[in-house]
Amino acid sequence: MILPIYLYGSQVLRAAAEESDLADREGLKKLIDDMIETMHHADGCGLAAPQVGVSRRILVVDGTDLTDRYPELAGFHREMINPAFTFESEDTASYEEGCLSIPNVDAEIRRPARIKVRYVHPETFEEVEEEFGGFAARMIQHEMDHLDGVLFVDRAAPIRRKMLTGKLMNISRGNVHTRYRVKTDKK
Ligand code: NI
Repeated sequence: MILPIYLYGSQVLRAAAEESDLADREGLKKLIDDMIETMHHADGCGLAAPQVGVSRRILVVDGTDLTDRYPELAGFHREMINPAFTFESEDTASYEEGCLSIPNVDAEIRRPARIKVRYVHPETFEEVEEEFGGFAARMIQHEMDHLDGVLFVDRAAPIRRKMLTGKLMNISRGNVHTRYRVKTDKK
C-alpha cells in the first residue's frame, strides 16, 4: 500500500522515533513492504518510518536506480529495524543529498565516509552488524538522521540554509508540487 509522505514542517519528522516492538513481526513486515512500495512509487532511494507518519526506528534504502552514478550500488538495498551506529569514521565525504519530505531541494552534506551499523534483519529477525562506505553509507546515515528527528538541511552550510529558507517555508505550507501523495500537519 502506498502511503502519503509527510513534508518538512510536520511534527513527526522532528520527533525521536521509538524502538520497534520486535514481537509484532507481521506488523513490521507489512510496514516495511508499504515503505518500500511508497519509496519506489516516489522514485526515492531511501525512506524512514517517520516520513510515513510512523515514529518507529525503521528505514529502507535502495540504490539500484543510482547505478549510473554509483556502479557499486548494483543490487544494493537494505531494510533495517532498530539500527544503531557501532562505528563512524573520522574521515568524511561530501555528497549532494535530497529527501522525499523536502521536494526539489538539495544540498552538499559532509558526513563520516564509513560506518558500521547494527540492526535487526526483517526476515530473520536476527541482529546483524555490517560496514558501509561510499554512497551506501551516505543513504543509511541520511535515513538514520530521520529516526532522531534530524533533516539533511539542518546539516547544510549556513549560507545554503539561508538560501533555502523561502523554499522550506513553502514546503511546510504544502505549497510544493510532487508526483506522489504528501501530507502536512495542516492538510
Ligand atoms: Ni530524507
